[in-house]
Amino acid sequence: MPALNSTAIVAVIGAGAMGAGIAQVAAQAGHPVKLYDNRPGAAAQAIAGIDRQLARRVESGKLAANAYSACMANLQPADAIAELADASLVIEAIVENLQVKRDLFRQLESLCSSDCILASNTSSLSITSLAAELAHPERMVGMHFFNPAPIMALVEVVCGLASDASVTATVHATARAWGKKPVFARSTPGFIVNRVARPFYAESLRLLQEGVADCATLDGLLREAGGFRMGAFELTDLIGHDVNYAVTCSVFDAYYQDMRFQPSLIQKELVDAGHLGRKSGRGFYDYSEGAERPQATTLNSSASVETVIVEGDLGPLAPLLARLRQHDLAIIQRDGQGLLRVGDAVLAMSDGRLASQRVREDALSNLILLDLALDYGSATRLGLSWAAGTSQLAIDQAVALLARIGIAVSPLRDSPGLCVLRTVAMLANEAADAQLQGVASAADIDLAMCAGVNYPRGPLAWADSIGIGAVTRVLANLQASYGEERYRPSLQLRRQLAEGKTFHE
Ligand code: NAI
Repeated sequence: MPALNSTAIVAVIGAGAMGAGIAQVAAQAGHPVKLYDNRPGAAAQAIAGIDRQLARRVESGKLAANAYSACMANLQPADAIAELADASLVIEAIVENLQVKRDLFRQLESLCSSDCILASNTSSLSITSLAAELAHPERMVGMHFFNPAPIMALVEVVCGLASDASVTATVHATARAWGKKPVFARSTPGFIVNRVARPFYAESLRLLQEGVADCATLDGLLREAGGFRMGAFELTDLIGHDVNYAVTCSVFDAYYQDMRFQPSLIQKELVDAGHLGRKSGRGFYDYSEGAERPQATTLNSSASVETVIVEGDLGPLAPLLARLRQHDLAIIQRDGQGLLRVGDAVLAMSDGRLASQRVREDALSNLILLDLALDYGSATRLGLSWAAGTSQLAIDQAVALLARIGIAVSPLRDSPGLCVLRTVAMLANEAADAQLQGVASAADIDLAMCAGVNYPRGPLAWADSIGIGAVTRVLANLQASYGEERYRPSLQLRRQLAEGKTFHE
């Protein structure tokens, strides 16, 4: 299905943060755009705001003067909704209220031509439900942009039960023609991103609640080992705890209290206290003037290490071996079960069992578990945990080994799956479940998480690289440790594993 012709008129309703951004995107793509808001003067004000921003970009040499004037010539405020009658596509970005939006779409249906596409930018309402009262629900579709719309590449094209395939295909092609990265998503709670991202916040909140490490350490690990732009605490402080908590509660309720989406009491407490994050000056961190930002805990060691014994295939840890080789360490390789030995210490990647459990079950003393890194070849920090009774010398030797190759070590209380591994396993599990339920394809889920929330790798591609078997084992061990269905591995993981298939062939 081709994109809408750039001469087609696009109407945007709601001139708030999202509506103004979407109007700018459509105008920059060459469409005549009519922006309408029921607050008198709001549309003209929003257009003036776009003008100021783009003019600044021209001054700083980031935008050509003719692109600026072409965009501004395309933007017109509409004083009355009746002026939108000749639009080919209407994108609604008004207040997030089902009945108000339904009333608006009914009004549009009687106003616009029969082939005009009606799109909603809603982030939490069902497209099926929004379309229910229309005479022609087949022309209704979700067009979910991310904030700020001119910068964020992702657009979730959300298909309701009645949406016509040619309509959703046109919207997809149009978003692409506007320079965006569109994905298809079935209208289900949270669509792709707001569903699959839940564990990113939830697992850190749980680790904090269970005293596994402090905020700065967990954030530091997600950034420096996991490769995420921000850790969960700094990110939720930025989003606002009221907003993030409300999304979690709405997804939790929409999935009939599935414990996988259970909200966190410590986040609720922040909301109750009015500690909403940056916007209120305080969240997990203190943003008042002069406040000191806590740093991730880093262990020091004066132990000396010269020789490393590598036993068997290290699997995902293999890039660590290449890194050790670059640092003048004597390396002895022999058969075994994927372990590294340095002095008294035995290092292994976590498989989701407690270190103390593994010491007993695998008869390994001085076992030190390593957390996951996006790339062990370049990570600057790693989380480590060990069982009570591990010798201080072994801990010092493990820390010294990693320090020698430029990796800072953060200690984590013995806890299943540590921090990054547990988070990534749960992200992959949610992504796999979304695929299982036909919400979106594996390719679109991964694209959505990279383009919508800047993940360093799509959760399913990440599961492929760790090994679907290893991810399933981590989840099964988490489930066994907690005795909670929250950690149940998705059938999709087990199916891929049984069929010997990866998510991205
Ligand atoms: P906002 O509050 O900044 O703007 C909403 C605008 O709609 C206001 O200017 C208001 O005057 C106008 N409005 C309200 N009712 C109206 C009506 N009946 N007719 C015409 N105009 C009306 O809200 P924001 O943040 O721009 O969000 C708008 C929509 O976009 C919501 O559905 C929201 O869920 C969705 N969204 C928001 C994102 C965000 O990060 N803020 C991200 C993605 C989607």
